Amino acid sequence: MREKAKPAGRPVQAYLFADPVSHTLSPVMHNAAFAACGLAGEYSARWVSAAELGQALASLRVEGVLGANLTIPHKETAVAYMDSLSGAARTIGAINTVINVGGQLHGDNTDAPGLAAALSDAGDAGGPAVVLGAGGAARAAVYALRLRQREVFVVNRTPDRARSLTAALGGQALDRAAVSWEQVSLIVNASSAGLNDPDQTPLLDFDFAALPPSALVYDMVYKPAETRMMREARAAGLRAENGLGMLAQQARLAFIAWTGCEIGIKVFLDALRLHGLDRGAPL
Ligand SMILES: NC(=O)c1ccc[n+]([C@@H]2O[C@H](COP(=O)([O-])OP(=O)(O)OC[C@H]3O[C@@H](n4cnc5c(N)ncnc54)[C@H](OP(=O)(O)O)[C@@H]3O)[C@@H](O)[C@H]2O)c1
Repeated sequence: MREKAKPAGRPVQAYLFADPVSHTLSPVMHNAAFAACGLAGEYSARWVSAAELGQALASLRVEGVLGANLTIPHKETAVAYMDSLSGAARTIGAINTVINVGGQLHGDNTDAPGLAAALSDAGDAGGPAVVLGAGGAARAAVYALRLRQREVFVVNRTPDRARSLTAALGGQALDRAAVSWEQVSLIVNASSAGLNDPDQTPLLDFDFAALPPSALVYDMVYKPAETRMMREARAAGLRAENGLGMLAQQARLAFIAWTGCEIGIKVFLDALRLHGLDRGAPL
């Protein structure tokens, strides 16, 4: 089902549709990947409002266009415009990658396998996991963890949203006080707490020493590179990593789906590093 990009001739195109698009690093990752694969291709970000989404998606159905990535606020609304969906996209109810397959639009969600790959790269050893948040990123996280038979607890500021999420995707919605933290081997922050704000944390007044010393704290937020949650987890002796690995992995999986070029993660991480982003200072 995958169309291979052509190595020469008119450059193939891929896009990011978002509103707003400012400060996105997707073009630097994908354009580095085109170069590394020896493909004539261009990835560009387009500011697409909710009202323009249908038209923007229709414009992908032409030869020479590989597809698009979608981000805020299009991941859920775009589902209705797809001709087919991957199992992950259908279950999560959101797509971040559109693939133009001979004029038919296939919707996929590479956030979920991207997170799984990033957790594995970060040394996640399995075991019970707590997901913080109940939006689209949390849905992808719960899907990825449940697919791997993990025990998952969802803690969210608005408990009703956590309950709706677990009713649809599995896992158990819990209040923070009801979690047996001493048994938790992974915390994933899939909330937007801490995004662009070094003083914010989804776990205020929390004792990270309640977790086993081998636990991993994975924050999907990557700006700042060391979030308050990561800093506090590290101060308690835990391993902590930001969401840059997930960002790179979801991009890599989208790129492979578009081009068939099985490129390694290093190209994506190096492109991010060149633009001043890294996975956070080591312990
Ligand atoms: N690294 C990556 O590749 C990657 C990929 C996708 C997303 N992300 C990041 O993941 C985060 C969530 O994205 P999303 O699309 O799921 O957003 P979303 O749908 O808007 O959901 C945001 C979630 O965060 C919670 N929240 C917001 N502020 C909070 C606070 N101060 N304290 C506690 N909880 C708070 C919300 O709780 P309520 O339900 O109570 O409102 C909600 O559950 C964002 O920071 C995004 O940048 C990273």
